[in-house]
Amino acid sequence: MDRKNRFNDVLTHSGTDEALSETGPGTLNRTGVNTSPEMALDLIREAQRTPPDPPGDARMLAEYRGEYIREKTVIGSKPVPAVSGRNRIPAADGAGSIFLDKLGERLAFERQGVRLYECLIGKVMHMGMVAGGPTLEDLEHILEEERKHFLHLQRAVIGAGGDPTVQTPCADIAGVLSQGILQTVADPRTTVAQCLEAVLQAELADNDGWSMLRNLAMAVGARDLDEMIQKAQEHEDEHLAMVRGWLANLVVGRDAVSWKAVKATSAESGKGQAKPKAAGRSKRPEPPGKSGKAKTRKPGRK
Ligand SMILES: [Fe+2]
Ligand SMILES: [Fe+2]
Repeated sequence: MDRKNRFNDVLTHSGTDEALSETGPGTLNRTGVNTSPEMALDLIREAQRTPPDPPGDARMLAEYRGEYIREKTVIGSKPVPAVSGRNRIPAADGAGSIFLDKLGERLAFERQGVRLYECLIGKVMHMGMVAGGPTLEDLEHILEEERKHFLHLQRAVIGAGGDPTVQTPCADIAGVLSQGILQTVADPRTTVAQCLEAVLQAELADNDGWSMLRNLAMAVGARDLDEMIQKAQEHEDEHLAMVRGWLANLVVGRDAVSWKAVKATSAESGKGQAKPKAAGRSKRPEPPGKSGKAKTRKPGRK
């Protein structure tokens, strides 16, 4: 079989039509080596003939990085609580500093959450709403709650004797971690489902972040923040359930075969899954594992 015929054969057997419908017209995926097995052999031979330049391996990389690690440089410096402050935590054992560091992290995360949902709203506005996916009203509702969390945290930082404009070490790391998430949603080529995959990562971290903060607040005696944190946890719980539901609708719900497979697996493991929505329905999805318990709050309602 000549090279052209072999190429056509590969296309025939790799479900070209399906690939086009997944990624849009004119975007045939040629990244796999089976697109051209003959050329792949040339590529492998050439890679074997050409060693890395400069030479090295993982062990050498670890050695090189070790020089910097041994210098013990740290990311930023811990915030120090001011003398005044409604919720000032005793700084003697460093608890106040750790608390401010984590409050700063939450603050940075919620700020990024606002940007994330603003970005997703823009995407849905221009791309159009997808059946089974989020409505603009849903996204505005979450955006507003993320914004409120940010404002509450600003006040909490001030109350704990901190400065909300300070970039704390954990805030710095949270910012770096979320870069890929925001980039995914901001990329004009990504679909709503692909964006929701990124948003799911953010909401998972958001949920754990608030749980950690609540435990820490209890540990340092900042009990007057408990109500605010609990409320935020309720919101974040709902955000996570909604995002999971939309993602299940868009990824699983559109493929009956896959859905049956997931359902069978789910039945075996005894766990529930979101019911796929019929095309055109825009009702808020029931979150997986919470069937019948999904809240239906109106946007802005606390
Ligand atoms: Fe959040
Ligand atoms: Fe959230």
